[in-house]
Amino acid sequence: MSKSALRRVSVAAACLVAIVVVAAGCGGSSGGGGTKIALLLPENETPRYETNDRPDFEKAIEEQCEDCEVLYSNAGGDAQKQQSQAEAALTQGAEVLVVDPMDSKSAAAIAEKAKAQGVPVVSYDRLIENGEVDAYISFDNVKVGELQAETLAKKLKEDGSASGPIIMINGDPADPNAALFKEGAHKGFEAAGVKIAKEYDTPGWSAENAQREAQQAITALGNNGFAAIYAANDETGGGAIAAMKGAGIKPEEKPVTGQDATVAGLQRILTGEQFMTVYKEIEPEATISAEIAIALAEGEEVPQGKITEEVENGKTKVPAVLLKPIAVTKDNVKSTVVADGFVSAQELCTSAFQAACKEAGISG
Ligand code: BGC
Repeated sequence: MSKSALRRVSVAAACLVAIVVVAAGCGGSSGGGGTKIALLLPENETPRYETNDRPDFEKAIEEQCEDCEVLYSNAGGDAQKQQSQAEAALTQGAEVLVVDPMDSKSAAAIAEKAKAQGVPVVSYDRLIENGEVDAYISFDNVKVGELQAETLAKKLKEDGSASGPIIMINGDPADPNAALFKEGAHKGFEAAGVKIAKEYDTPGWSAENAQREAQQAITALGNNGFAAIYAANDETGGGAIAAMKGAGIKPEEKPVTGQDATVAGLQRILTGEQFMTVYKEIEPEATISAEIAIALAEGEEVPQGKITEEVENGKTKVPAVLLKPIAVTKDNVKSTVVADGFVSAQELCTSAFQAACKEAGISG
């Protein structure tokens, strides 16, 4: 038998196996038939997903696997929609699902469906609970909450109101990360003796909901009844700041936390409206996820070299990579997010922010 005939036979055999295992993906009409990798992101309220996660992941796949194709979808904050997007990806022949779950409960169903078809699942940024998951790549999310609380507690002490009290605007209760941020923040505030006057969970992580919650808290406590607002990310922080302004409070006088180092959040930090954010380097998160996804799609094991720990998800111990978050205040915007190229000076220093940029030593 000639070499090419031999190859045809072995390709046919591989396809037979693939048909049994995946029921898709072989003999496609496109002729290319590369490896399909599905990326499912949860929402687009928070800018990170379209600005960082998606492009960073697609770039990493392109660099590491010439023959791979990314099937991308964003659930737009709708768990049901994410479910259908996962089903569509499986129908299109995805060989691995990389899922940032909109809702931890329905995500378990996605993982089950993929597993039933022999398709491995990577849990991206948020952990899929109570389901079969091959790997989990995220940050130390309890540490995110601790950093927010410790940095804020230190500031409150400097300002002479060490015990607060503060208002807490937490994340979406459907997001498993929100509970971890909250846990870390409570730990930090308790250790520092900071009192919590009011606390809310924020459906959909939206600025709108956060603003309404903060308004409610300010009305109940009075403008002088609190010293700061803990907000779990920059979107909710923006909502909290809008509520303060609406009540006639100068946000410069009551520190607000955040997370994600969004352009809007960083600009507020430069002008003094927001006190801090948490910078999470999305590029390594996306790149490591891409590397693991490619290995799994090609039928290999999770590359052990990257794994830093195992995380219990209620069903199995998931091999995990947890990256380190970094606290950012006005003092280190330049030496962290700008120095890393996470945001450019041009993006930050638009005309309204030129003076603030100059003050922070950032030139556009
Ligand atoms: C992510 C945060 C993000 C939030 C809202 C969390 O799971 O880790 O970076 O701000 O979801 O999308």
